[in-house]
Amino acid sequence: MASSSGRLAGKVAIITGGASGIGEASVRLFVENGAKVVVADIMDEEGKKLAEEMGADTCAFHHCDVAVESDIEALVAFTVSKWGKLDIMFNNAGIRGTAKGEDVLNMDMNDFDHIMSINLRGVALGVKYAANAMVSAGTRGVIICTGSVASVMAGMSPVAYTIAKHGVLGLVKAAASNLGKHGIRVNYVSPAAVITPLLLVHFRHLSGNPDLTMEQVQGWCDSLSNLKGHSLTALDVAKSALYLASDDSSFVSGMNLVVDGGLSITNHSFDT
Ligand SMILES: NC(=O)c1ccc[n+]([C@@H]2O[C@H](COP(=O)([O-])OP(=O)(O)OC[C@H]3O[C@@H](n4cnc5c(N)ncnc54)[C@H](O)[C@@H]3O)[C@@H](O)[C@H]2O)c1
Repeated sequence: MASSSGRLAGKVAIITGGASGIGEASVRLFVENGAKVVVADIMDEEGKKLAEEMGADTCAFHHCDVAVESDIEALVAFTVSKWGKLDIMFNNAGIRGTAKGEDVLNMDMNDFDHIMSINLRGVALGVKYAANAMVSAGTRGVIICTGSVASVMAGMSPVAYTIAKHGVLGLVKAAASNLGKHGIRVNYVSPAAVITPLLLVHFRHLSGNPDLTMEQVQGWCDSLSNLKGHSLTALDVAKSALYLASDDSSFVSGMNLVVDGGLSITNHSFDT
């Protein structure tokens, strides 16, 4: 499955949250494009299965809870010892939280702390340890983080999720600023709704309907979408990450690539 001539030929990548959804689609696409990929996740069974499917010469699973500093440190060390270097760090793992009907008046601070520990602090840890490995090896690497339309607008996601995704935008800018002198690029890919386990669980919780199907959620998302005739998929997001990981974006750093079909720059309130 790996290609020696793809857009990531010769590169070594880590993808956190690589066992499912956007991360899984990115693992598949990065391997197809010639990268060696470490799948980092807390879902051991799914992560190992995916790595086996990709092939031991190009893909490995490593258990990592991104909220735990020693796990991230060990993940980066594992990757460098296995494949000699780290070129691409894709900080993609994230959770949406369960806050039904939540607003700033009734935030659950335990839920808030939990979301921050994964979606903000976990990403900061990924940036820190990946950047240190790249700088000490003199690697002109790439760091990508998964955001959301909730990084640029509010109202469609739980409050803590929105705060964390806005926070990572600041992290991406700070890291791009700090790491430019080392030749390291840092970017953000921010999708609108993609039907993954994360979104399905959220909508089942919100609706109170545990039997809600992927098709029902997709229909609702499509009805809200600005760009008609195509449903956003995990592969669409993976392709945007591939662009940011590859030399096609060789002078792009500090950018938030919003993959939302124009949703966040549109307001159809006055449509007749
Ligand atoms: N699905 C969407 O609609 C959507 C939209 C915008 C942004 N996103 C973002 O995309 C990213 C991926 O989400 P997805 O939709 O593919 O969801 P998903 O649930 O399919 O995948 C998320 C993965 O992250 C892993 N994960 C969760 N907590 C972890 C932790 N502490 N340490 C390591 N791994 C952990 C999960 O096990 C899972 O494999 C998230 O950052 C999410 O916020 C998703």
